[in-house]
Amino acid sequence: MSLDASKVKVTRVETPSKPRPNDELVFGQTFTDHMLTIEWTADKGWDVPEIKPYGNFSLDPSSCVFHYAFELFEGLKAYRTADNKISMFRADKNMARMNKSAARICLPNFEQDELIKLIGKLIEQDKHLVPEGQGYSLYIRPTMIGTTNGLGVGTPDRALLYVITSPVGPYYKTGFKAVRLEATDYATRAWPGGVGDKKLGANYAPCILPQLQAAKRGYQQNLWLFGPEKNITEVGTMNVFFVFKDSKTGKKELVTAPLDGTILEGVTRDSVLELARENLSSDEWIVSERYYTIGEVEERAAKGELVEAFGSGTAAVVSPIKEIGWNGNDITVPLLPGEQCGALTKQVAEWIADIQYGRKEHKDWTRIVADLN
Ligand code: COI
Repeated sequence: MSLDASKVKVTRVETPSKPRPNDELVFGQTFTDHMLTIEWTADKGWDVPEIKPYGNFSLDPSSCVFHYAFELFEGLKAYRTADNKISMFRADKNMARMNKSAARICLPNFEQDELIKLIGKLIEQDKHLVPEGQGYSLYIRPTMIGTTNGLGVGTPDRALLYVITSPVGPYYKTGFKAVRLEATDYATRAWPGGVGDKKLGANYAPCILPQLQAAKRGYQQNLWLFGPEKNITEVGTMNVFFVFKDSKTGKKELVTAPLDGTILEGVTRDSVLELARENLSSDEWIVSERYYTIGEVEERAAKGELVEAFGSGTAAVVSPIKEIGWNGNDITVPLLPGEQCGALTKQVAEWIADIQYGRKEHKDWTRIVADLN
């Protein structure tokens, strides 16, 4: 059976919870009343989707998810618009990426639009819990796991797709807070032929130890380098952008690494590139997806050509960078005077928020899934 949103079975909680005050919302710590679950078997395909009270699963300890990391996830958000509707941002991109991740680890694909409709129905149940205000949103976490029992290593013949949602506030409570990064070449996040472009849980656990090591030296995140050239790839769990200014021509360049299989195909990354190409004058700007190295950053900083840098991801949207530890020195990344970010970082955050909160329309990037009026 293919995934069919019209078959969904809904069991509601008896007593819906009350929204928490915005200042109590910590990223990913509280969840809404309901979750969506859909079981899959190789024999029957996708079973009837269920929306039911949030709760524990019961799984056999030999389930392949626990042993061989058959797990992938997505992260996307829904926003409360000024006219009190709930709008999802670029869900189609997340669904497409989720299917690519699933295919890579032999978990089943699904009808993308059906899952978007089901997530819409899930949000509808808990719409009163979607927080209001700029910076606040509902974080949506679709997940798929292999649930085949037994320790044989092979293609799962059972899977569970589920979605939970969490009301969240701004990543940085006091507005932007620029971070210090440690350029990391002794540990590698992703490599050619690997799975760095897929959103697999297995890509995240190995990155915690290098982060702790960087933290001991006073840096919040790793700036992941790759290869003998020491190409800049990503930062922490985000894509990363740098801005350089050619001191001869005065032209600025917004640069990020190309999607060569080692870089996560970030939805925010894609949105930044598209909005920058649309809004920045090509007389003054170049927008590039190209390889660039920590050596180039170091050299251009020394020449006064490093303008700003920021990470991009669904959780924080943009995350400004103020310093990069490399080779025993700290490279200073400029910030606007008295502020915690650069000019383009601020601009990009505004462009994206305007679309997410429904103040501006952009193509088919938003989809209304519930109405609180
Ligand atoms: C994001 O930036 O949205 C992420 O991927 C972080 C997430 C793993 C919490």
